[in-house]
Amino acid sequence: MLTRRAFAGRLGMAAAFSGPLSEFAYAQRAALNFKLPKDMVWINANENPAGPPPQSIRAMTEVLPESGRYHYQEFGDFYQKLAASEDLTPEQILVGCGSTESLHAAVEAFTSATRPLITITPTYEAPPEVTRASGKQVILTPLTSNYTADVRKLVAEADKAGGGLIYLCNPNNPTSTVTPKADIAWMISNLPRNTIALFDEAYIHFAETPEMESALTYVRQGKDVVVTRTFSKIYGMAGLRAGYAAAKPELISKMAPFRNNVISIVTARAVLAAIADKDLVPTRKAAYARTRRELCSWLKQNGYSYIDPQANFIMIDVGRDTRQFGREMAEKGVAVGRPFPPLDHMLRVTIGTDQDMAKFREVFPRVYHA
Ligand SMILES: Cc1ncc(COP(=O)(O)O)c(C=O)c1O
Repeated sequence: MLTRRAFAGRLGMAAAFSGPLSEFAYAQRAALNFKLPKDMVWINANENPAGPPPQSIRAMTEVLPESGRYHYQEFGDFYQKLAASEDLTPEQILVGCGSTESLHAAVEAFTSATRPLITITPTYEAPPEVTRASGKQVILTPLTSNYTADVRKLVAEADKAGGGLIYLCNPNNPTSTVTPKADIAWMISNLPRNTIALFDEAYIHFAETPEMESALTYVRQGKDVVVTRTFSKIYGMAGLRAGYAAAKPELISKMAPFRNNVISIVTARAVLAAIADKDLVPTRKAAYARTRRELCSWLKQNGYSYIDPQANFIMIDVGRDTRQFGREMAEKGVAVGRPFPPLDHMLRVTIGTDQDMAKFREVFPRVYHA
């Protein structure tokens, strides 16, 4: 057991040694400082309760006894197969420790004292936080009335700044919305000079709307576009830490110096086994869509309003500050998402197992009507 003092000490140590977004910083966000019920339901961090597929677990188990070696000679084949799975070449990808490492590398490579990060609010915080931490400017633009990115505002800000890095999470975390493909196309054709577009597609595999189009199309066309993908979400491998950036080779070589290391052979084997199974993503996507539909029908029937979700999480309007609401949910055994200002009344809830969602449906009305 980690005492509160020891935990604080560790946080201090982390701040001294490992930058603003270490595992300690993430753990602090997730920390609930009261006695947790034994059967706590964790629908707070957009994780996939299914975990890695069985073939990945077998592949990892097989390689574990050989993990005393670096296995660097296998990574050529790994890059080849991973790139081919998205119709890319090995020179067009950069693998990292989760997509976090690729996002950081993009921020380091494509922002500067004169080139800001331009993004929407609210969105996934890591890229803006790491930009600010290195003393560079972040420009935030509001969402449209549909909670999607206002691409015209993003482009106008990049133009005004004389260039920068536009970060667009699509589907967006936390709103679970998709910015329509025509808007993405417009943005790419109107990118101002000295501007790179960074698309974070961590949740793309969950989206059902025909408006969702991967920006990998533009990578293949050689545009000034970087796309990040992760194995943490639909693949259920958040704890294994694998992701990658895709971009034309000139952009990849600018990002590569900012990557810290290679991923473990255990993780690489798990990824290879997962991408070899072409049914995995469609099967998981269909299962998620069913659970998500059931949750939405229940919310609708009971008069709760929410933003129509396209990812493995949903934003529900709870009509009051989510900090207190989230704490009350946690005390009753359901951990929900962190606050996402300026949407202070919107609670982010991850889609979990059917059992998780049953518990959510039991606890949520008790807190909502308290
Ligand atoms: C939008 C988005 N991008 C990236 C990440 C980082 O995840 P990972 O480093 O596990 O790929 C997350 C994590 O939740 C996320 O929500």
